[in-house]
Amino acid sequence: MGVFLGGGVAQASRDQWSSSFGFLAAAVGSAVGLGNMWRFSYLTAEKGGAAFVALYLLFTVLIGLPILLAELTLGRGARKSPIGALGHYGGGRWKALGGLFVVTGLLILSYYSVIAGWTVRYAAEALVVGMPADPGAHFAAISEGDHAFLFHVLFMGFTMAVVAGGVSRGIERVSVIAMPLLFLLVCGIALYAATLDNASAGYSYYLNADLQNALSMDVVVSAAGQAFFSLSLGMGAIMTFASYLPRDGNLPRESLTIASADFGVAFLAGLMVFPIIFALGLQAAVGESTLGALFVALPRAFAEMGAAGRVVGFCFFIALVVGALTSALSLFEVLVSAVVDELQWARPKAVAVMGVVVTVLGSGAAWNIAVLDVMDQVANNFFLLLGGLMLAIFTGWVMKDPVAEAAGGAGEGGLGLWRFLLRWVAPPFLLFVLWHSVPSTAANVWALISG
Ligand code: TRP
Repeated sequence: MGVFLGGGVAQASRDQWSSSFGFLAAAVGSAVGLGNMWRFSYLTAEKGGAAFVALYLLFTVLIGLPILLAELTLGRGARKSPIGALGHYGGGRWKALGGLFVVTGLLILSYYSVIAGWTVRYAAEALVVGMPADPGAHFAAISEGDHAFLFHVLFMGFTMAVVAGGVSRGIERVSVIAMPLLFLLVCGIALYAATLDNASAGYSYYLNADLQNALSMDVVVSAAGQAFFSLSLGMGAIMTFASYLPRDGNLPRESLTIASADFGVAFLAGLMVFPIIFALGLQAAVGESTLGALFVALPRAFAEMGAAGRVVGFCFFIALVVGALTSALSLFEVLVSAVVDELQWARPKAVAVMGVVVTVLGSGAAWNIAVLDVMDQVANNFFLLLGGLMLAIFTGWVMKDPVAEAAGGAGEGGLGLWRFLLRWVAPPFLLFVLWHSVPSTAANVWALISG
């Protein structure tokens, strides 16, 4: 177990990233995932195209980026998982926020893994049997029930196997290969999509703002929730990864790199999805099913493209699997590191116990897609926003000298603006968004419960 040094802050035995590229690959891997491809495209389609994209970008820069840097700062400074890190800087009371992060992580990973299970299945099918003849019926058959549960178990198995290997020898090793692969796949497919006839109809849908839509509160709430979800913010995932960083390294620059890569992949995802769907005249299929948009409209498009569609479809679903896996690693590491640090469990035991808990919790989502939908809404439109609000208040108002901690000895240029955003912009904005999202989220939960 850990030998404590330097006022109990550093543990000699604590794992560390073996290179700064390794850390960046893992952090970008956490950010880039189903949120960028599945969630971003279906929300963009549902919430009115480019207006949604513009709001999401705005919130990423003004709210997401400052909180991203806050998480990096807290994690690196304390070198502990979130419960310990918040206790270290804020005293015992703030440990409760770390506890909230663990609950949020359990909630998100348990349904995230179910969706990831769908992607594993689609990738395997693309390879072995090709695209389904009737994608709507196929999606309905595989997205709920024993099959969905089986692939959820399989996906959690992969996640557990990697996290059991530890940070540098498990998560980092997978991420340094997975992330470059994902970028190549996404760029390749977006280029291919550009060659399709009528791709321009897709671009104009995607990139033309319908400003009427942007003014609705529902769109604002969704764009804010998406900015958090996509950057993996509001539940200590980035904070946990940063706790394995060495002292040197430029956190403001790293936060910019992570956010740009994350937005870049989401944007590219739109550049692959919309041209493909519009080129084949399948826009109606997007509206048919929100959660299932990618899993119904795209396979139909791939099926109509013949042999090329099978290859592109396989690459597409592999990109989804890779993105989902590296994101799940970060969600799971939050849970594992919390019990390793707080209860002093050995990593294998932590992986086994938490893995079983997540698998069981996810079974509700696997058997009922309405449960999955509500879990996603509660997590994004409530828990992540609440976690982000508390993090902004904590770093902006409670923590002593966050600017020096973030700079870590390097220049403090621009960090005054960072603190200003954490103090005066993020909290009122997030309170406002929560104020609007809580009643509608509660109504959706109630509708589900009352059948
Ligand atoms: N950001 C990931 C995605 O876009 C999902 C994710 C990973 C996440 N870790 C997280 C979301 C922590 C919220 C919090 O798919």
